[in-house]
Amino acid sequence: MTDDNNLLRQLETIQADALKALETAADESSLQTWRTAYLGRSAPVMNIFSRLGEVSKEERPIIGQRANQVKQALEAAFETSFTTVKEAALQHSLTTQKLDVTLPGRPQSHGRLHPVTQTLREIYAVLAEMGFQIYRTRDVETDEMNFELVNIPAHHPARDMWDTFHMTTPGVLLRTHTSPGQVRAMRQYNPDPIRIALPGMCYRYEQISARSEIQFHQVELLTVGRNITFGDLKGTLEDFARRMYGDNVRTRLRPSYFPFTEPSAEMDVECFVCGGKGCPICKGAGWLEILGCGMVHPTVLKNGGYDPTVYSGYAAGMGVERISILRHKIEDIRYFWGNDVRFLEQF
Ligand code: PHE
Repeated sequence: MTDDNNLLRQLETIQADALKALETAADESSLQTWRTAYLGRSAPVMNIFSRLGEVSKEERPIIGQRANQVKQALEAAFETSFTTVKEAALQHSLTTQKLDVTLPGRPQSHGRLHPVTQTLREIYAVLAEMGFQIYRTRDVETDEMNFELVNIPAHHPARDMWDTFHMTTPGVLLRTHTSPGQVRAMRQYNPDPIRIALPGMCYRYEQISARSEIQFHQVELLTVGRNITFGDLKGTLEDFARRMYGDNVRTRLRPSYFPFTEPSAEMDVECFVCGGKGCPICKGAGWLEILGCGMVHPTVLKNGGYDPTVYSGYAAGMGVERISILRHKIEDIRYFWGNDVRFLEQF
């Protein structure tokens, strides 16, 4: 049998020793060592708990209680020392280490607008100044809107100009150009005059190459009114080109063909790389094509609810990536969708 009084006496010694050892622990790491030694699993006070089974039933609660008190006293002593040491360390660092407010801060990296978004916004700003209102229509279109109503009936050979993504639902497709928006706008506004810009993503089922992507942006212009002439079209586009590219830009219109305009044309700007002399960018031509345009075809006016004998209008469609490429001399359209930040960070 263990001498019960002996255990009680041991507890006193344990407490005294521990508190004495604590006095010499002056920093955080020696405090942690102390804690392991005097409050850890094999600490002397813990040892007393495991020896409780050896003492008599009557003495057990007394010794148990005393052991608990010792343990709590040691814990409290530890907390006090720990707080003191922490505070001293803080005071020390506050007085010895000075904060240098003149040090440069850490640079923040900012997000940027995608070059195409930047070009789009420039176009919007120029067109807004010229009195055009932005009109958005849907990306998922019907065959009727995308083709039929802009005068491209089924089996018309001109459909070859637009390789199309068809949905599994018959008659539903991804718009191949922004021109279907013409009919939607006319149906909303007729018989009022119209002067709008239709921006948006277009989709074509094409071989991806340096020059063509399967999705790209267009901005379409549409005006409808009583006395709109080809002269208005030409003047407006020349004004647009000057505002976009500067006062000295030279432009030219070439005859072309689109089923939804008659007559149709394409506008070129003088190559800004070689100034018209001919270079690899303009493939020796001295000119760069920037848009297709023409007078709205009578059939399209009629489909929009306007009487073509009373009303006329012009339309134009430009490729935004193309304009962006020309602006920044980007040699490959695939960079726009490449998600390479080294490319995107340049703008
Ligand atoms: N929709 C034509 C295209 O995608 C561009 C265009 C628009 C041409 C309006 C004339 C008038 O190529």
